[in-house]
Formats: sequence, C-alpha cells, structure tokens
Amino acid sequence: MSKKIILSGMRPTGKLHLGHWVGALSNWVSLQDSYDCFFMVADWHALMSEYKDPSTINESTFDNVCDWLTCGIDPERSVIFVQSQVKEHLELLMIFSALVPLGWLSRCPTFKEQVQQLKDKEINTYGFLGYPALQAADIALYMADCVPVGEDQLPHLELTREIVRRFNFIYANEVLKEPQPLLTKAPRFLGLDLRKMSKSYNNYISLDEDDEEIDKKVSSMITDPARKTKKDPGHPEICNVYSYYSFFSPEMKQDVYKWCTKAEKGCVECKKILSGAIKEFIAPKREKKMEITARKDYVYDILDQGRKKAQAFAAKTMKEVRAVMKF
Ligand code: TRP
Ligand code: SF4
Repeated sequence: MSKKIILSGMRPTGKLHLGHWVGALSNWVSLQDSYDCFFMVADWHALMSEYKDPSTINESTFDNVCDWLTCGIDPERSVIFVQSQVKEHLELLMIFSALVPLGWLSRCPTFKEQVQQLKDKEINTYGFLGYPALQAADIALYMADCVPVGEDQLPHLELTREIVRRFNFIYANEVLKEPQPLLTKAPRFLGLDLRKMSKSYNNYISLDEDDEEIDKKVSSMITDPARKTKKDPGHPEICNVYSYYSFFSPEMKQDVYKWCTKAEKGCVECKKILSGAIKEFIAPKREKKMEITARKDYVYDILDQGRKKAQAFAAKTMKEVRAVMKF
C-alpha cells in the first residue's frame, strides 16, 4: 500500500459522452496503473443542482458506472463507490461547515458563474453554496494525494487545500492531507457546435451512441467556413472535424491535412471517414456496455464492495478527525 492515493468523482447528471472520455475517463483508466484509486459517483453533488427531479440521478448513477466499467475502470484495482452510500462524507462536511468562512464559498468563481448560468435551476441555495466544502470532504476523507481534475475544477481544489490547512491549523495537527491537483492535460475538445461538449447544449456524442446517430451528428459538425465547395482549399488547424481526428484516428491526420489544404476531398467525405473512425471506437464499447448493463447484480455487487472499502477508509479518517478535535 505504498502507492499514492487518488480520488476523483463525476456528477451523475446524464449520459457520459466523448467529452467525458477525452477529458477524464481515459485518464482515470491509465492512472490505475500507478495509483490506488477511488472513483466516486458524486450523487450528493448532483442533487445540489438537480433537486427538482432527483429521479434522474439514480438512473444516471447506474448508467455512468456501466460506462466506467466498459471503458476499463477495474473494480479489482480501484474502489468504485457512490458518495451518498458512505455517510462519513456528510459528517466531515458538517465539521467543515463549522470552520469554513462564508466568504470563501460565496467568492468561489464557479458558484457565481453557475448561479448565473443555470438560472432556471434556482441554485442560489445553502446546499449549492456548500458544494466545494462537500468536495473538500470527499477528498480529505480518503487522504488523497492527488485529484485528477480539469481546469474548471481548479478553484475547488484550491479551496479544498485551504479548508484542509485551516482544519490542521485550528486543531494544531497534521491529520488531514493537502491534496495536489493532477491537471488533466485535456487537449481542446469541443462539442459538435464548437461550444464545450455538454448534455445541456445537446452537442454531444454519447459513449454508447448508435451508428446512425453518429453519422447524423458528425455530418452536422461545423467545418472551415472557407471551404464553400470541394474546390476551395481549407485550413484544418481551425476545423473541429480535424481536431476530432487527433482523438479517434490520429494516424490519419497527415492525410486529412493534405486532402483538405489541397482541396482533394470535400468536407462531406472527410466527415464520413471521421464518422467511420468514431463508430469503430464506440461500437465495441456499446456492445460491451449492453452486456454489463444486463448484469445488474454484478454492477450492484461492485458498488457494494466499493462502498465497504470506501466506508472502512472513511471511518478511520473520521476517528482521527474526532480525536484531534476532542469531539
Ligand atoms: N465537482 C466535480 C465535477 O463537477 C465532481 C466531484 C465531486 C469531484 N467530488 C469530487 C471531483 C472530488 C474530484 C474530487 O466534476
Ligand atoms: Fe475540416 Fe475535413 Fe473539411 Fe478540411 S476537409 S475543412 S478538415 S471537414
């Protein structure tokens, strides 16, 4: 057990898509080789924004875990669990709530942004304000050395470090560990319409998309506007289709560059070829996911094992926490 510890989580708020694969999941899979990993379904976090219709959270939890297993998150090596099934998360959150200054939370850039952006969700709430404190509890409970996150989560990581430092300072002890962010070098990967790939923009290709949909979605992608007809040479470096080749068919990039800049192939054909590559990437996953999804007991058993392992670890931390607090 000398490996460093990693904890990361995803909010179960819908289907996982290619953006999750490129930005997080592919990284999680390879981190398993060198770290002891905890991968958590952050269902409490999802509730903070989806409280009006929480039924989707359960569906997404099961569905997302099936995607994780499909993509190679290995329950033999990593602990896969659901946040709300380990009660210690809320206990530590309550303790953090006592000592986290309000200003740290209200000034958090993600809080202000989200409240503005998701107006219809009415998340100017007590719970949503505490979102980063809950995330800090998730991380601190498992003494995580590193947290793989995308750029957007860096403020939360910084807040976690501050909260941990404040805890250790107040109780004059080094019980909790200050985690390091492990910045996922997610190369720019955009949605079909050039915005961030996201369920709410409906600009995504899900990890189990069917072939016909893939064709349709890829053919809807925006390309270099300079290529009005096949005879106009293009600029692949500014084309989203070209950037997708990097992820799903990197060996073809040179050819694409050539046929685009020399106006040898048109965008329609270029997209058809990309679509083929994405189908080749997704089809085996879709098959495998169907098998896994059908084995409900197997999946619930993994989550049950994960809950036990996570809970044992979390309980140990809480014992130390209470001891230094004399509480
Ligand atoms: N806030 C993260 C997100 O939206 C999800 C999350 C919850 C998380 N707890 C975490 C990520 C702990 C890393 C570590 O993506
Ligand atoms: Fe983009 Fe391909 Fe069209 Fe070039 S040929 S602009 S890379 S879709």
